[in-house]
Amino acid sequence: MTTPDSLADRRPVALITGGSAGLGLALAHGLADRGWALILDARGADALKNAADELADRTDVVPLAGDVTDAEHRSDLADAVAELGRLDLLVNNASYLGPSPQPQLAGYPLDELRRVYEVDLIAPIALTQLLLPELTAATGVVIDISSDAAVEAYEGWGGYGSAKAALDHATAILAAENPDLAVYSVDPGDLRTAMHQAAFPGEDISDRPEPATVVPAFLHLLDSRPASGRYKAAELVPVVAP
Ligand SMILES: NC(=O)c1ccc[n+]([C@@H]2O[C@H](COP(=O)([O-])OP(=O)(O)OC[C@H]3O[C@@H](n4cnc5c(N)ncnc54)[C@H](OP(=O)(O)O)[C@@H]3O)[C@@H](O)[C@H]2O)c1
Repeated sequence: MTTPDSLADRRPVALITGGSAGLGLALAHGLADRGWALILDARGADALKNAADELADRTDVVPLAGDVTDAEHRSDLADAVAELGRLDLLVNNASYLGPSPQPQLAGYPLDELRRVYEVDLIAPIALTQLLLPELTAATGVVIDISSDAAVEAYEGWGGYGSAKAALDHATAILAAENPDLAVYSVDPGDLRTAMHQAAFPGEDISDRPEPATVVPAFLHLLDSRPASGRYKAAELVPVVAP
């Protein structure tokens, strides 16, 4: 077995938070198909292990169970990056919607609001801070997963929506401060996932597209590397219903 001795000899590496389900897992499959090595996290260890097992026939996967708001866990993620020797892509995908159904701001429990901000804003910034040296060394890409709720003032979406709006703005500033990186906010559009069901409790969401339908848009973003900024998946590559 030969040991890779330079960055260029090693396969590209992506770290995807929330990689055990939904969009994160779909992205992991899309990148595994291209031979990327993957570091994935999620809180639920069993679902994460199942996800890693599904991917292991195509690539190297490091599954690390933990919560993105836990500094020790983020440090373990950084150690995994150091072990693999490079980081080409960070996808801050793990997210918390808040209580379901979502409360109006007038009565939004502040401990829940803090948790939404911790998961959706502070953790992505903290993880990016930790991994900037490796991302810079690889002239890498940061993708912060956004939402239309970041720009539309939907009633009841004041916690999650304002956290995603703040994440969008932090992403734009990170891009301005790091011109050598590609730094994107991406609104994936409505997707048939557990989080979407929590946002619409009791509703039939079977008409929403599967997460896999937007993966081509993310791959297109990586391939074409447009200017840093905010993009909608549906505008990058139109979603084709299965
Ligand atoms: N679904 C939509 O319609 C939609 C629309 C716009 C934007 N988005 C965005 O798309 C992204 C993915 O959402 P999704 O719908 O795919 O969600 P999902 O299916 O519910 O999956 C969420 C993933 O994140 C993990 N996760 C949640 N909280 C975590 C934490 N604190 N630490 C580590 N991992 C955590 C979950 O595993 P554990 O629960 O085991 O931790 C799971 O792997 C989110 O940023 C969301 O805001 C979704």
